[in-house]
Amino acid sequence: MTEIIRLRQGQSWPGGIPLPLEELPALVATAGRAPSVLNTQPWQFRVSGHALEMHADVRRGLRVLDPVGREMLISCGAALYGLRLAVRQLGYVPAVGLLPDPGRPGLLARLYLGTESPITPAEQDLLAVVPHRYTHRGPFSPGPLPAGLLTGLRQDAAAEGAALAMVDEPAAYPRPARLAGTARALPGSIGKSAFYGHHPRSTPPSRAFLRGQASGSDSSSQAPAPCRVRPAGWRRYDEVP
Ligand SMILES: Cc1cc2nc3c(=O)[nH]c(=O)nc-3n(C[C@H](O)[C@H](O)[C@H](O)COP(=O)(O)O)c2cc1C
Repeated sequence: MTEIIRLRQGQSWPGGIPLPLEELPALVATAGRAPSVLNTQPWQFRVSGHALEMHADVRRGLRVLDPVGREMLISCGAALYGLRLAVRQLGYVPAVGLLPDPGRPGLLARLYLGTESPITPAEQDLLAVVPHRYTHRGPFSPGPLPAGLLTGLRQDAAAEGAALAMVDEPAAYPRPARLAGTARALPGSIGKSAFYGHHPRSTPPSRAFLRGQASGSDSSSQAPAPCRVRPAGWRRYDEVP
């Protein structure tokens, strides 16, 4: 968990502390250590007045695998979390507005330096592991999870306004297993599993793969997956509603 001041849509931070330009490379580098779908790193940062804006880099969108941009948005959320941590190291609580401009859905967040407050030891610990984090691709060890891990994860999700659904009863296992089976059978998912099967950690997708994704013609699957269902509240964020 890390301290944050949440801004309402369209609200800016009246404090008016200019961003220290010499710190920007380090801030963006910490944000850029975030995990991202297929290592696409689909974010862009721009300075705008006293704010640092995060934009979705839609050129790195995966039209076949991620037609509504859900995974792209999750990736950018992870990068924003890293950015917030990096701002804490400067001794400020970040003031963050999510999707601040309804007319610009690609503008995902605006971050200002908020109130002054020293970084906490817990935030310091989180920041220290950022350069060392990576996606675990090996098998999981058998045995019980560390005590308190699941509760902690639930609390972390709740602190970010999300809910973490646990599948912890054997009677509930068949449902996600069916979902995974259905996903595997969808056109478009073949390319993804092939990619993950052959590429080691942090290897970016090839240009040819991204070209196929951009044009919607994934050469490793038979046909691009049409997006028939859009969960309520989701939209492509390169589309103006
Ligand atoms: C939204 C999202 C979806 C992901 N999906 C998968 C996945 O289906 N399978 C997988 O092995 N890794 C998945 N990853 C992990 C990424 O491949 C990984 O973050 C990226 O390759 C960079 O490697 P790193 O996390 O080790 O730095 C996903 C990451 C994100 C953020």
